[in-house]
Amino acid sequence: MRFPQVVPEYPVWTPSRAAAHPQWRGLAERTEADGRRCSFARTGIFLGLKALGLQSGDEVLLPAWHCAALVVPVAKAGFTPIFYDLDENGRLDPARLEAAWTSKTRAVLAVHLFGFAEDLAPVRALCDARNGFLVEDATQAYYLAQDPVGDLVLVSPYKFLPAAEGGEYWLKDGFGPAPAPPETTLTGTLKAFLKDAYHIGEASFAARRGGLWQWLFGAVIRLRYLGRPSPFQVHSKAPANAVPPTADDLPTADDLMEKWHVAPRAPAKWSARLVRRAPPGAGAEERRANYAWFAERLEGVSALPDDVVPYMLPLFRDEPGPVLARLRRASIQFQRYGLPPWPEMDFAAFPNAARLAHTGFQIPIHQNVDAAARERILGALNG
Ligand SMILES: Cc1ncc(COP(=O)(O)O)c(C=O)c1O
Repeated sequence: MRFPQVVPEYPVWTPSRAAAHPQWRGLAERTEADGRRCSFARTGIFLGLKALGLQSGDEVLLPAWHCAALVVPVAKAGFTPIFYDLDENGRLDPARLEAAWTSKTRAVLAVHLFGFAEDLAPVRALCDARNGFLVEDATQAYYLAQDPVGDLVLVSPYKFLPAAEGGEYWLKDGFGPAPAPPETTLTGTLKAFLKDAYHIGEASFAARRGGLWQWLFGAVIRLRYLGRPSPFQVHSKAPANAVPPTADDLPTADDLMEKWHVAPRAPAKWSARLVRRAPPGAGAEERRANYAWFAERLEGVSALPDDVVPYMLPLFRDEPGPVLARLRRASIQFQRYGLPPWPEMDFAAFPNAARLAHTGFQIPIHQNVDAAARERILGALNG
């Protein structure tokens, strides 16, 4: 059985040590003292909103251009997601956000999308004036030059480091005297450990980064897929559809709840260790350099501000279908932020979000994207 070498969407585990770039002290690291670790940031949204005291039926304002993973915890906790549109470029527009505010609104979630910091001062002022909570979603931000201002802040270190899971959340005013312990059982912990170890190993194997490990883990993978099609052939989980799918093609809210399930537990051991032990700022300079390399060679890529460590490279095409097919054929993983949207949201009511989701896709620029991978990605983009 042959497995193509994948350009992975996230960094993968390698036997060599990543370089430290201490000027980019990661958010997770900076907030070590106050934050709480959890399985994923979505779990942090779920636990954090509850810790803020929201009640069933309270409304939470969410961006219409979103990853369903940030809607699932709101719905699962019994709160009502209400959506607001972003501006034409996908940036936060306080006026549009304010227009969505109703008498039942208790919290607003704002995202530093792709790692580009938003100015949250107007939203902070709005929340203060209306007695609402600000949820600052920094899951795509490795580093923020400004201090977070949210009542609840979310971080997702596993998106930047070679771990399979690991979220973090903290409350501006602390957690109070009696934090609820995460619900864990021995079998739950063991299952999480095995799943975690397998995911780290599989991603590393798929990217051919593992040295001796490569061979050992390869044996496990070959056994696992004996007589079955290799999952690495169709590796990208991102939906390729360029046009709005029909209602029948869309996953239901229950499907999304299962896919992005909220696991109220601590991150599994190996991932937690990889995050804790990562050198300060690991991968930050490589991300910036990769972004700049593509920006020089592709049209329409906005310049990278001096204080931004990008999450992925967002690109837009009026008809993204052909380019996405080429990326798949080249085994390059990509994401399509905003697809599928939350099923109970009417995309037509949010024209900017709908256009950005249907024309946008994001390619990896993390620390494992080396010169050969960059050329491969550029070749697939240019056809
Ligand atoms: C903006 C945003 N918020 C929250 C999440 C959920 O993060 P996690 O995967 O850590 O649960 C995601 C997931 O990709 C995201 O893109």
